[in-house]
Amino acid sequence: MRILVLNGPNLGRLGTREPEIYGSASLEDVQRLLDGYSGLEADVRQTDSETELISWIHEAVDARTPVILNPAAFTHYSYALRDACAMLQGVAPLIEVHLSNPHARETFRHNSVISGVAKGVIAGFGIRGYGLAAESLRSEA
Ligand code: DQA
Repeated sequence: MRILVLNGPNLGRLGTREPEIYGSASLEDVQRLLDGYSGLEADVRQTDSETELISWIHEAVDARTPVILNPAAFTHYSYALRDACAMLQGVAPLIEVHLSNPHARETFRHNSVISGVAKGVIAGFGIRGYGLAAESLRSEA
């Protein structure tokens, strides 16, 4: 089973970016973690560009590919990304993942414009959240 694991702005700095909040694991560690799941081929990508992230969601829609998405700051305001994610509904599952628990942080992080079109949300478990999401996708395949 092939899945796309898409990460939004500033997540390319994972490992060194505010480690007290996001932990010290990098996106390479996320790839390694998911490579450990048999029967799963995870394509981990990161971009700082809203345009590119939306194009990857379009790619997932066209190929009916399940998606694990950490939209990073786009979570809180990108209606364009939400509209793209809405196209996945009924086509392939989308799981929203956050390393931190946005609800325990600043008020502006409390709202996600993505959650309403996601199958589920996993937040606050660091990179283990990606593994939990992958497990869920694999068990439903
Ligand atoms: C994040 C939470 C967002 O609020 C923040 O903008 C991020 C990372 C997380 O994984 O905890 O960049 O999505």
